[in-house]
Amino acid sequence: MQENGHQRVSLVTCTAPVNIAVIKYWGKRDEDLILPVNASLSVTLHQDQLKTTTTVACSRSFQRDRIWLNGREEDISHPRLQSCLQEIRRLARKRRSAGDHSPDISSMSHKLHVCSVNNFPTAAGLASSAAGYACLVYALARLFGVEGELSSIARQGSGSACRSLYGGFVQWNLGERPDGTDSLAEQVAPESSWPELRVLILVVSAEQKSVGSTSGMHTSVETSQLLKHRADAVVPGRMEQMRRAIRQRDFQTFGELTMKDSNQFHAVCLDTYPPIFYLNHVSQQIITLVHHYNQHHGETKVAYTFDAGPNAVIYTLQEHLPEFLQLLRLVFPSEVPEEEFVRGLPVSPAELSEEL
Ligand code: ADP
Ligand code: DP6
Ligand code: CO
Repeated sequence: MQENGHQRVSLVTCTAPVNIAVIKYWGKRDEDLILPVNASLSVTLHQDQLKTTTTVACSRSFQRDRIWLNGREEDISHPRLQSCLQEIRRLARKRRSAGDHSPDISSMSHKLHVCSVNNFPTAAGLASSAAGYACLVYALARLFGVEGELSSIARQGSGSACRSLYGGFVQWNLGERPDGTDSLAEQVAPESSWPELRVLILVVSAEQKSVGSTSGMHTSVETSQLLKHRADAVVPGRMEQMRRAIRQRDFQTFGELTMKDSNQFHAVCLDTYPPIFYLNHVSQQIITLVHHYNQHHGETKVAYTFDAGPNAVIYTLQEHLPEFLQLLRLVFPSEVPEEEFVRGLPVSPAELSEEL
């Protein structure tokens, strides 16, 4: 608590990690509740790699709710933001109705100020909406003392955000109920179950994408037949195979499925009308390089995946990392400074750290 004039300011700062899907979410069956057309599965990245840091403050002295993203004020009336704020405030009130008589900082008499910073490119296909909304929801829950399942609230900010609330390997269940209460994230396996796994982020372009994920997938649902086929006939089987590959630490299957699923997602983008192009020529060079490398070795040693943007995420095992890094530096000597171009770190806990 800090004093601001004569009014108290309650303040919480949290950080949250990015997650990168190996079975991609693309398409909603309910746009308000953010319910997906298919289940998805991701790996949560180490917070030393990519993270969001969000501070939430509330006080009676604030005139209205406000939010700043990367230093610039954004519109707080954004429906997704409002869903998260309203849902957390509702849970906070529910908690208080149990007879708590302390000052109610979650009531509308106290306005919120939110300040969030991503330490990586925003809206460039590196899952900023995932880390961003997971962090917001987690920080608000801490501020108001809300406990329990938070992934369904984060989901209503950005679908992929529900998976960033857990570490390791995480699935987002399709769910069956129309109210979405069973469309939640859950951990498939902890990060410690596969300590040799490594993730490299290859920043091909930090530019903001021209078609955001929300509008891109909306058009895909409207126009792509491949999307329907993928959701009905492809993803259910892949989810099962992927869970098995993770539990058995079978990189061959994990890597192959990851690449195939990324490719099918981008094929859906191309099947969208008008088509959406997220990959650029450098992305394509990376894809070709990975396949050449694997073919040369006669096995899948390295796998790529691309979200809705040109930036590559590479999954590999520690034993292959030095050689593949060397190859990357050979092929892309001057594109991007070495240290920023690739970072090899173990996949590790997604615990949202908190500073009070
Ligand atoms: P990305 O591939 O980076 O996830 P999206 O198109 O899915 O791109 O989402 C980008 C949007 O997510 C931003 O325009 C912004 O509205 C929201 N967003 C990104 N970072 C944050 C953050 N830290 N806090 C709140 N919202 C965020
Ligand atoms: C390609 O979660 O960003 O990264 O729910 O509309 O906010 P909204 O979309 P978002 O979509 C992510 C799409 C993806 C695949 C994935 O993360 O599963
Ligand atoms: Co996103």
